[in-house]
Amino acid sequence: MRIDIITLFPEFFDGFKSHSIIGRAIKSGKVEVFIHNLRDKAKDNYGSVDDHPYGGGPGMVLRFDILLNALNAVKAQSSKLIQPKVILMTPQGQVYTQKIAQKLAKEENLILICGHYEGYDERIRDYVDSEISIGDYVMTGGELAAMVITDSVVRLLPGVLGDDMSSHDESHSEGLLEYPQYTRPTEYEGKRVPGILLGGNHKEIERWRHEQATLRTQTRRPDLIKEP
Ligand code: 6GU
Repeated sequence: MRIDIITLFPEFFDGFKSHSIIGRAIKSGKVEVFIHNLRDKAKDNYGSVDDHPYGGGPGMVLRFDILLNALNAVKAQSSKLIQPKVILMTPQGQVYTQKIAQKLAKEENLILICGHYEGYDERIRDYVDSEISIGDYVMTGGELAAMVITDSVVRLLPGVLGDDMSSHDESHSEGLLEYPQYTRPTEYEGKRVPGILLGGNHKEIERWRHEQATLRTQTRRPDLIKEP
């Protein structure tokens, strides 16, 4: 998989790209992550990336011509055989979920566009496949959202997590929160590990875990349990 990120703040991604799991996935060739500076496009052409909104009002708007030039330049780098999926980072987008992460993990090339300031010139929306928000709050830019998406997608790619099963049972992957986990010691400060986990009956353990996951989801996130 290849992930291209268009941003005004490429340096934000330095630490992220060298972070252990993502960094290792890049080094081992499981994913390529390219950061593109939107401002480079501006220097070549006009010198500014944003401007005041027509009709007045506060804030600045990212220019359509700059955004489209940047997007086309990135698309030109990708193989013609691959249809990249272009995603606009915006609080107005569809709220991101594990289900969307699983869908995106099947793509060959993602192009994530990060805005800053007040917003995008509306016309860029005709050139993107989807718009994603990472939750109902407003951030100063889309960079953190692009990192959230990249992290959550890359860890789903085959071979990225050491144990292939470890992204299987976790919270949200089956629509439930994860069951409670324990490790050594079996007793500490009077707190004991549930006996069923020590008994070695795998069928019983599996049943208990599913029960616990359901209970936990009902109490913490009843919104995740769909009415039949
Ligand atoms: Cl994708 N961008 C910004 N600026 N704020 C957000 C967001 C994205 N998702 C939630 N809040």
